Amino acid sequence: MQKILVTGALGQIGSELVPALREHYGADTVVASDIRAPARDADVSAGPFEHLDCTKMRQIQEVVRHHEIGRIYHLGALLSAVAEEKPQAAWDLNMGGLYRVLEVARPYGCQVFFPSSIGAFGPTTPKVETPQDTVQRPTTMYGVTKVAGELLCDYYALRFGLDTRGLRLPGLISHVALPGGGTTDYAVEIFYQAIRYRHYTCCLKPDTRLDMMYMPDAIRAMMLIMEADPAGLTHRNAFNVAAMSFTPEELAESIRAHIPDFVIDYEVDPVRQAIADSWPESIDDSAARSEWGWQPEFDLAAMTKDMLDTLGARLKPAK
Ligand SMILES: NC(=O)c1ccc[n+]([C@@H]2O[C@H](COP(=O)([O-])OP(=O)(O)OC[C@H]3O[C@@H](n4cnc5c(N)ncnc54)[C@H](O)[C@@H]3O)[C@@H](O)[C@H]2O)c1
Repeated sequence: MQKILVTGALGQIGSELVPALREHYGADTVVASDIRAPARDADVSAGPFEHLDCTKMRQIQEVVRHHEIGRIYHLGALLSAVAEEKPQAAWDLNMGGLYRVLEVARPYGCQVFFPSSIGAFGPTTPKVETPQDTVQRPTTMYGVTKVAGELLCDYYALRFGLDTRGLRLPGLISHVALPGGGTTDYAVEIFYQAIRYRHYTCCLKPDTRLDMMYMPDAIRAMMLIMEADPAGLTHRNAFNVAAMSFTPEELAESIRAHIPDFVIDYEVDPVRQAIADSWPESIDDSAARSEWGWQPEFDLAAMTKDMLDTLGARLKPAK
């Protein structure tokens, strides 16, 4: 097994992907990297770590050559809400990082994973059961970089025979690292606030329906797609993957099954609401199911119980 490099490894996904990869392939096989330094007690310290700015070609080359990397999970990026605040920086990092990762992967023949998003769709995309192949005219800088990233990965596969693969991930709910400034962050924050204060003020309207996934399912999907038999893949890249779809009000109701006095109220953030309104409510992941056997394990009720059990063991209610 050649080694695996993870860029942006200290973020919400990397904090759980790196330990899962290390458990599966061995701690020394997985090189975590980020532009930030890890905390001393961080999980990523259990194996090799490199300081790596993924917009610097030389740095990526050096790490890939030194560690004999054969697979790259490229996670370094700016997320949707932050990208709307800093569109120029988002373009530089999201496109510049991916382009340089692909350019380094090309001569070394590395497999590359690119995490696209439901943000790659836009207001003219069918909103319900969004098909795998459909209109993609996003109105956010995040979405623009995700569509362009999908196309760039397709191009490197077609033109240079690079083994690029990817998923369109929905909003991810997790309890290890806090989310990094996405539109679906509310679905994580709500659990922390529910346990501590039994109260949460949500930045999206109560009936904003979005596609979501619990992190263990997302990690499994990211590992499965990279191991999938290429002969069975028609799309290779940018697979829709889905697990659940809910509104803030429905999530609050699911939490109330465990914390009956939990209260939610709303102070709508127009920037995040506009982004959410341009995204699908639910997506059709039949291509992922038929081409590489995708099947989620967590629905809303199972995810809510697991989040509350895990965070409840760690957090104390405020006095
Ligand atoms: N979290 C989600 O809900 C979600 C959903 C769909 C797609 N995605 C995609 O998955 C990827 C990872 O998302 P995440 O939630 O872990 O993000 P995050 O914001 O939590 O983490 C991103 C990491 O990238 C690092 N980084 C920033 N600039 C860098 C640079 N120049 N070089 C190297 N690293 C740099 C940051 O320090 C951070 O640790 C992104 O491409 C994101 O768009 C995430």
